[in-house]
Amino acid sequence: MIKKHGGNVYKFAKEHQVQVEDVIDFSANINPFGLSNVVKEAIPSMFDKVLNYPDPNYMDLREAIAKFENIYEDQIVLGNGAIECIFLLAEHLKAKHLVIPVPTFVEYERAFSKYQTKICYYQMNDMILDIDCLIESFSDRVDAVIVCNPNNPTGSLVKRTDLEKLLNYTKEHQIYLIIDEAFIDFTDDEDNNTMKTYLKSYSNLIILKSLTKFFAIPGLRLGYLMTSHKELIDSINNSRMPWSINSIASQVGELVLKDDSYIEKTKKWIVKERQWFYESILSIDGIYPYVSQGNYIFFRSDEYELDKKLAEYSIMIRNCNNYEGLSEGYFRVAIKDRNSNLKLISCIKEILWKS
Ligand SMILES: Cc1ncc(COP(=O)(O)O)c(C=O)c1O
Repeated sequence: MIKKHGGNVYKFAKEHQVQVEDVIDFSANINPFGLSNVVKEAIPSMFDKVLNYPDPNYMDLREAIAKFENIYEDQIVLGNGAIECIFLLAEHLKAKHLVIPVPTFVEYERAFSKYQTKICYYQMNDMILDIDCLIESFSDRVDAVIVCNPNNPTGSLVKRTDLEKLLNYTKEHQIYLIIDEAFIDFTDDEDNNTMKTYLKSYSNLIILKSLTKFFAIPGLRLGYLMTSHKELIDSINNSRMPWSINSIASQVGELVLKDDSYIEKTKKWIVKERQWFYESILSIDGIYPYVSQGNYIFFRSDEYELDKKLAEYSIMIRNCNNYEGLSEGYFRVAIKDRNSNLKLISCIKEILWKS
């Protein structure tokens, strides 16, 4: 069985004998605006293309991504979700010693362990990644480090000036720096948070992006990595499986990246809703949230069984007890529409009041 993730509404519905439609899923961090209208209208006409193989190089999608990210088309490796890019990286980087600051996304460890990379965990202090301490912890053998920014599950964001320091250090010491920006579009000042402007001058830099969260297409699967490391890109392209992205996902990808009104609407909404949701959670006795720049809030709870108790209200949240570096009592909730958020808050209050 695959290690526990958020978002398994089917399993939850079966276990709790409820309809999938009745589950309120706070465990997966998906934009609550759902599929954009542009995509909904265009999807029926996209089915014609399933009769042909997709273009194995996905030139139109690649062009759309290059334009959106302001990078070159040959700096992109596409994936069936960012997850495929993580596994491709693990296979082709051939890193011997990877540093992973924890707690963080659990799949880095699974992907790199599969290719015999030794994993060295760096435990963050109170969920904050201090770059100077991280660098001090490196042994001579370290040849890759991965930073999730903003971090999943904590939501904490490393400042660009700190990442610059890490980038310069890693370049000088021939260490790959992988930055997972799966949630960067949700941050307050994305242009000043992303590290993509450094791709040109730093070939040791690899940036991961996911389209499944911001554009609400986790079931379609689409992501990519960006790097100017030509040998790495060639190595991946020369041996990877063809057509890993289906033609619907590829066409949807082209559309969403041009959908400025959806992008603007989401960015405006998240800034306000995140602040309101954080303050509302902070006001609950027995719950201690962390400041977040993602579309989710991470918190510690005096009630360790909060996920089980919320399940009685058909509410799913992410229990983070299986993350390296965390113990019982830590949870993550997605930021959803206001009504769902209000319902979650009132249920948590009721549970804590009763216990
Ligand atoms: C930090 C992070 N990176 C990458 C991924 C993979 O995203 P995708 O759905 O694009 O495969 C996830 C999924 O939850 C994630 O949380």
